[in-house]
Amino acid sequence: MGFIGSNFIRFIQNKKENLNVVNLDAMSYGSNSNNLRNINDLSPYRFVKGSTTDDRIVKELVTDVDAVVNFAAETHVDRSIANPIAFFESNAVGTLTLLDNVRKTGARFVQVSTDEVYGQTLNLEGFTEKDKLNPSSPYAASKAAADLTVEAFHKTYGLHTTILRCTNNFGPYQFPEKFIPKAIISAIIGRRISIYGDGMQVRDWIYVRDFCYAVQLAIEHGASGAIYNVSTGNELANVEVAKLILGRLNKPEALLEFVEDRPAHDVRYSLDSSKIRDELGWKPTKSFGDALNETIDWYVKNEEWWRPLLTDRILSPTPWKEKWDSFEG
Ligand code: DAU
Repeated sequence: MGFIGSNFIRFIQNKKENLNVVNLDAMSYGSNSNNLRNINDLSPYRFVKGSTTDDRIVKELVTDVDAVVNFAAETHVDRSIANPIAFFESNAVGTLTLLDNVRKTGARFVQVSTDEVYGQTLNLEGFTEKDKLNPSSPYAASKAAADLTVEAFHKTYGLHTTILRCTNNFGPYQFPEKFIPKAIISAIIGRRISIYGDGMQVRDWIYVRDFCYAVQLAIEHGASGAIYNVSTGNELANVEVAKLILGRLNKPEALLEFVEDRPAHDVRYSLDSSKIRDELGWKPTKSFGDALNETIDWYVKNEEWWRPLLTDRILSPTPWKEKWDSFEG
């Protein structure tokens, strides 16, 4: 019921008839039943409220499935600085609990990981799947722990595992604490857009539906034990992205507010995704400009989706200084 998982369920149900989807979600703050409000009622679909750390529920659900995709995560770097323990619970223990049950069933396992496990780079060439893990934040460390656990289960038990390490997703239904939706919403409501540090940090942006296709390919054709980087080459500095958003919404650049920098802020992520392109035939379908404009228009039209999620803390200019627990918005 989070951002990428809900987009994936909608994407795959529209593509495949009679696919039987079981959706397990603990429904903490980033999950939202409105994310699947338009789901296709004709396809078999079952929602179960529960945590991936709950051995009993996971055991029952994985007994009769072909594939398990782990989208469940605490994802926000800023919150991981304020409250690291919740991230290891969800991301490391949750992944371990899934793996330990899947190993008894023969189902395929796809892990949704992140470029952040490699840490930052200034090299022209992006990281390949063979590069060493060098996480900077507690969030990234918890995702690296999960990746290593997935690899260990592949080596030890022969589990059919595939890891996808993807760059920054954006698109409809992304929770307002993340940079692109936060900037769009702030501009719409006339609040200032907080830019950490000098705003020159570079992220590679991928439209969520393009990543959903990579997940589909990983389920259907991912090699056992493989890791695939997923990236687009749309590398932009944060301040450039913020200016594009202001331009689309006809708002002044005076709304930009440069604030203190996030601790251990990675200056640039960059991946080499030739492996998934060559071996699985993946490529992005939308240009960054079109996808960003579609996303901005979606937030303009869907205020009733995001308005109830807003609090002053969600829009805080320095969220890592706020007090969070993992279940609150
Ligand atoms: O790279 C993939 C990762 O992207 C995912 O694994 C994470 O789950 C996801 O949260 C995201 O991490 P980032 O830290 O890159 O995303 P975020 O949207 O928080 O920030 C994007 C960039 O914008 C980052 O350089 C920090 C900056 N930023 C963010 C916020 C929320 C700002 O300058 N101001 C802000 O208010």
